Amino acid sequence: MKATAVANANIALVKYWGKRDARLILPQNGSISMTCDGLSTKTTVEFSGEYRKDTVIINDEELQRDEKDILGHIEKIRGLAAISHHAKIVSETNFPVAAGLASSASGFAALTMAAAAAAGLELSQKELTVLTRQGSGSASRSICEGFAEWHKGNSSDGSDSYAESIAGRDHWPGFRMIACIVSEAKKKVSSRSGMAQTVATSPYYDGWLKTVEQDIGTIRNGIKSKNFSAVGLTAEQNCLKMHALMLTTKPVIVYWIPATVEIIQHVLAWREEGLECYFTIDGGPQVKVMCLQENEKELQDKLLRLEGVKKTIACRPGDGAALSNSHLF
Ligand code: PMV
Repeated sequence: MKATAVANANIALVKYWGKRDARLILPQNGSISMTCDGLSTKTTVEFSGEYRKDTVIINDEELQRDEKDILGHIEKIRGLAAISHHAKIVSETNFPVAAGLASSASGFAALTMAAAAAAGLELSQKELTVLTRQGSGSASRSICEGFAEWHKGNSSDGSDSYAESIAGRDHWPGFRMIACIVSEAKKKVSSRSGMAQTVATSPYYDGWLKTVEQDIGTIRNGIKSKNFSAVGLTAEQNCLKMHALMLTTKPVIVYWIPATVEIIQHVLAWREEGLECYFTIDGGPQVKVMCLQENEKELQDKLLRLEGVKKTIACRPGDGAALSNSHLF
């Protein structure tokens, strides 16, 4: 009863920021993302009668405070499989955790796929995204390869709120997402509590919901027809609308640091000069710069020359989550 899965992080082009059902993790709106090759988490799960308790080890450290309720998710999977054994979970991530690079997305996708397989559950990919969603919403998209859409769904049981790939990893191999690491500090406000505060207090939330469907249509069509300008510009505007919600939340949520703004201003200036690039930012200070392959090298050189940029990781559209035979223990 042991299985290992590998999953990549994903970066949203149309963001998810707000739930309509917190227990089932049902979103207020649909979202679209790119699964990022190279930002991956590998997780091994074993259920065994020999374990006296559940243990979770992430990047060589035993989990002390289960802020994301990993054990609640394991309990759900045990319930579905009708098993009672305790679990040992070992996970390794190759990029900074909890700083806005979607580590919970790759983490929950790998965890769910490995735990479901170890527990003997046989799930379709759609069912796996529904189960993953109940651990972390954005993680449902990391199950899918290339570009993924998470459908908002309408039913109260969440069965139609699932993710699917809208274009495979080889559809648009020249699309690049350059993650710029500006800080490795753990974020102060979790996305879970931050988005709940936003829905409850931002006066602009209705405005967000009014335009998000249009962004989804533009980006879905832009991906299908490989219209980089439409995808980049709409993703950038969608990101700024989400951060406008954060800035109008009580108490205020500010994920940006000076280096975040430094990159934004340079991206806008480089675009003016004819170098086509766009930015997006999630629940943390890091900036991800979108460009096409032909401009990747020039942009990476420029970004690395900025004072606040510690490191860049250029990602192309990547694989969906997959089982692996090489276990971590
Ligand atoms: O699924 P969570 O709780 O990690 O929230 C993700 C929120 C954002 O990363 C800011 C947006 C998104 O759609 O990924």
